[in-house]
Amino acid sequence: MEKDIKSLFLSNVAQVVGNPSALVVYRAEGNYLYDQEGTPYLDFISGISVANTGHGHPTIISSVINQVKRHMHVMVYGEFAIEPQAKLATKTLEKLHPCMNRVYFVNSGTEAIEASMKISKKYTGRSQFISFKNSYHGSTQGSLSIQGSNKYKGGYYPLLPDTHQANFNDLAVLEQITTKTAGVVIECIQAGSGYIPANQEWIKAVRARCTEVGALMILDEIQTGMGRTGNWFAHLDYGFCPDIMCLAKAYGGGLPLGAFVAPEHIMKVIQADPILGHITTFGGNPVSCAASLGVFEVLEEDVTLMESIPYKEQIIQSKLIHPNIEKISGKGLMYCLWLKPAIDGFKVIAKLEKQGVISNSFLFAENAIRITPPLTITMDQLNFGLNTILEVIDDLSE
Ligand SMILES: Cc1ncc(COP(=O)(O)O)c(C=O)c1O
Repeated sequence: MEKDIKSLFLSNVAQVVGNPSALVVYRAEGNYLYDQEGTPYLDFISGISVANTGHGHPTIISSVINQVKRHMHVMVYGEFAIEPQAKLATKTLEKLHPCMNRVYFVNSGTEAIEASMKISKKYTGRSQFISFKNSYHGSTQGSLSIQGSNKYKGGYYPLLPDTHQANFNDLAVLEQITTKTAGVVIECIQAGSGYIPANQEWIKAVRARCTEVGALMILDEIQTGMGRTGNWFAHLDYGFCPDIMCLAKAYGGGLPLGAFVAPEHIMKVIQADPILGHITTFGGNPVSCAASLGVFEVLEEDVTLMESIPYKEQIIQSKLIHPNIEKISGKGLMYCLWLKPAIDGFKVIAKLEKQGVISNSFLFAENAIRITPPLTITMDQLNFGLNTILEVIDDLSE
């Protein structure tokens, strides 16, 4: 039966691409995935910025098991005080500016973005959204409407009206943000376009403009959160406070979990006129919250995981030099390697997998490959992965 997993996957699971690698992932531990034969694959993408503390961390597993033994799903919103939710909200707020004082749990990043858009409409009484070219915030109809490219919108129109995409890092956006704007959806490191860091002065100017016109600044920390850039959340290094912050991915420690965080006066709109402004059967599932608490525990106990990021970043920057590498962009342990047109990025990714390194492409960065290893990656593993990338590019250059 196990031998047929690949064909069962290809014939019974709906596919979103025409030629998946269909690598059979049998188990994952530490910084590696393993196939059925026990072949290790170094994880250079962390399941797209999820496995920040590696796979199967014992602290996270025991937190999950303890919670599973106590209880799994109960009604998660509106009525009951659920211990892992209460503790996780408290732990999350502990890391943030004191103005952020309420957390609402959902299932995913997309749902956090959707709910933030709803809240912004109700709070401001406006409906216009500004987001940025080549950004990705989710695949549902609201989040797709603010997606920063029309590339993946085909066939899904009509989407939300009055949604506009401005140029990232361009001050011209300040004029687009007006008293008609409900919300500006923004990232500190724009992920979909190839990990492009926001210029500090620019993002602070956007913050100030939102305040000036009464628009809400919705910060997407879905990929950048939980230590990935060397701080708990990327905006803490930029020195501004958003109105709403969205979390998911590594926040759930490998289980599905999202959240949005805001000051009480903003969060209040989901509580009245009408009540139940955003409800969800599973959002804030106690087991997911327990896993998240495990991630906080690991990152708090082993401070070297975040502290070593600048050094690891230097290694990435100094190693990835090759005549067929155009440039690299990124911050922390989220890097994009841009290839020259002579090399096909998809071939690099396929060959890397054969050589035991898992990478991936970007939605909007053409001919580029993703480097987002777990924060637990050792120097030897990092060097191995980077050397393998250089070898593969060398081979394909011949
Ligand atoms: C920056 C960013 N925002 C939002 C999302 C959507 O999150 P989710 O896939 O959890 O719905 C993603 C997912 O890749 C993302 O990278």
